[in-house]
Amino acid sequence: MEYDTIILGAGAAGLMCAAHCGGRVLVVDHARKPAEKIRISGGGRCNFTNLDVTPEKFISANPHFARSALARYTQWDFIDLLARHGITWHEKTLGQLFCDGRSAAIIDMLLRMCARAGAEITLETTATAITPLTRSGNADDATGYGLTLSGPEGRRQVRARRLVLATGGKSIPKMGATGFAYDVAAQFGHSVTQTRPALVPLTFSADRFRPLAGTALPARVAADGPPFDEALLFTHRGLSGPAILQASSYWREGAEIVVNLCPGADAYAVLRAARTKVGRRSLVRSLDGLGLIPARLADHLGTEWVLTGNLADQSDRALQTLADRLTHWRLTPSGSEGYRTAEVTLGGIDTAEISSKTMESRRQPGLYFIGECVDVTGWLGGYNFQWAWSSAMAAATAIAAA
Ligand code: FDA
Repeated sequence: MEYDTIILGAGAAGLMCAAHCGGRVLVVDHARKPAEKIRISGGGRCNFTNLDVTPEKFISANPHFARSALARYTQWDFIDLLARHGITWHEKTLGQLFCDGRSAAIIDMLLRMCARAGAEITLETTATAITPLTRSGNADDATGYGLTLSGPEGRRQVRARRLVLATGGKSIPKMGATGFAYDVAAQFGHSVTQTRPALVPLTFSADRFRPLAGTALPARVAADGPPFDEALLFTHRGLSGPAILQASSYWREGAEIVVNLCPGADAYAVLRAARTKVGRRSLVRSLDGLGLIPARLADHLGTEWVLTGNLADQSDRALQTLADRLTHWRLTPSGSEGYRTAEVTLGGIDTAEISSKTMESRRQPGLYFIGECVDVTGWLGGYNFQWAWSSAMAAATAIAAA
């Protein structure tokens, strides 16, 4: 074989694996540049991990699957790696770590490590056919993989003992995201769980929130999962901001989300106290005047909920009803912005048929799946890159030891 390992995908997981798996390595990517998602992530500063990485921050049909890889290559290991390469960072909020400089520093680090390891990287190249090389003709005793590559220099055949799939998920097709890993997984008899856009803005019909576009506030948002206390942003098309992106990973078409617009306050107590002190203030103006919600949102809800009169006109019951509406605002999104803007793909290659220790296929020896293509999806906040690093290291360690 001319290669020990061929890695498809020169993104976060593929480069990390190439730098550590040893032997003769070829990395293949169809993009013009490697790791473009690292480059644009975190507003150009890459939120590369989180101080608080626990398996509960990952969604999967098997919530235990990510445990092993995350425990064996942790956020502290990646932080050490950055320190060795002189990359400095800072914590923004909720344990999220960002580069002090540009994300490109992480790409350069990975490329330097790949070069040092002697890994070859070929860009603008796709694998048009993948065939298991077998002694008996049975795919499950594969001794390696033959690939037809198609790139700027035309077609060529390559062979390797091991094949690592690291081509990511379907989010942001404009950047070259494809469902390629799922197709290869299916070719080798793997199941793929239902995939859907996640960490994605939610849309509403009839320009419902267009007049509020640009308004932001702290909120608590829950779909069919845990509540998230982060910023909520009104957009021309609907709702966005970290609280919405997080909840979107737990939302399904037709279902409601519940928004608490004043999570830091006891809205009923605040309104009652104000009724005694500033009873002549209009009900609508008291919502922003008391710091419960921004003025533009108060005006919008004042019309939508037909809020009339002064504070002094309101009974305890009316104030309680209003407080309940502010803290349990039930909304039914018409959809999401889809893969066009989703940060990640929820679902993916079924973990039931992958070793959680090595990321190797249980069906097909020598075939590995790492990164976002696997059915492991992190919350917003650096968790998805940590999964890319940890799953890549699980495979790389197993390959290096083989
Ligand atoms: P990744 O997508 O990085 O790499 C896959 C590679 O495979 C790409 O280079 C692609 O070109 C290549 N490829 C695809 N199909 C191919 C084919 N058919 N043939 C050859 N090559 C192919 N996460 C986080 O933790 N912190 C953050 O700050 C952000 N920010 C962020 C912003 C935006 C805008 C997006 C879209 C995403 C994020 N993410 C994030 C998520 C994060 O980028 C993502 O989870 C990781 O990049 C996944 O790493 P992978 O290596 O698995 O795939």
